[in-house]
Amino acid sequence: MEKPKLIVDGKRLDGRGFEELRPIKIEAGVLKRADGSCYLEMGKNKIIAAVYGPREVHPRHLQDPSKAVIRYRYNMAPFSVEERKKPGPDRRSVEISKVSREALEPVIMKELFPRSGIDVFVEVLQADAGTRTACLNAASVALIDAGVAMRGMITAVAVAKVDGQLVLDPMKEEDNYGEADVPIAFLIRNGRIEAIALLQMDGRLTLEETRRAIELAKKGVMQIYKLQREAIMRKYMREGEDYEGSAEAAEVAKELSENEGGSEKEGGQSEQEVKE
Ligand code: CDP
Repeated sequence: MEKPKLIVDGKRLDGRGFEELRPIKIEAGVLKRADGSCYLEMGKNKIIAAVYGPREVHPRHLQDPSKAVIRYRYNMAPFSVEERKKPGPDRRSVEISKVSREALEPVIMKELFPRSGIDVFVEVLQADAGTRTACLNAASVALIDAGVAMRGMITAVAVAKVDGQLVLDPMKEEDNYGEADVPIAFLIRNGRIEAIALLQMDGRLTLEETRRAIELAKKGVMQIYKLQREAIMRKYMREGEDYEGSAEAAEVAKELSENEGGSEKEGGQSEQEVKE
């Protein structure tokens, strides 16, 4: 198919500005049988994340006596994409699972759960580009919902170059016909971006464009971070006095609310970027 024009009259195909995210919906605690869970929509992406654990690891030889073993499975439902996807793992999903696990591992306080396992399952129910980043956002919320002690939140978004222009959070057409696609995940702590946890790129950008892409992604993730935090708080508040989740989840929710708007204690991002 011939490449369509992706920017018309300064707007993207879905009417968004260059620095605008797709609409996002996040709900924590949607699955009864998982220890923690999250449903997330980012544009037309629809994602379910389920966390089990910390629990005993099987087979036992995979146990680590000093810390928890983290497993992450990214899976696309056969009906999630235009052409039916053959069920089961493929090269792409194995790679996405690996890099996503590596992005999450440093924020999970694994040393608190020796010999145990924490399993993160993410299911893509509907895909429209940016699923690895949307899945990481959902997984992060599900982990907190499960009461897993975390050093911060992982929040991710992609930036693309389309028709020579950098745009935030590309959708399918922009991903397919763009010049570059850069998914990035950040570690955010106390309302501040502390580190990059994942950065991939296909296509080509100049060094200057790469710097600008990271800056644009930083703006995007601060908005997503706020919604992740709100999703956790909503669940916590709704359950109010009858809150039956783990004490850790309640603690985390409290901590998140106390950190509202970030603090001036540590260096890093300016207060400005923390707010919408
Ligand atoms: O989803 P993400 O951008 O993280 O990964 P990608 O490999 O760049 O894939 C971009 C998009 O291509 C996905 O989000 C799907 O919409 C689509 N796709 C597809 O239609 N069929 C596949 N087997 C894999 C991806």
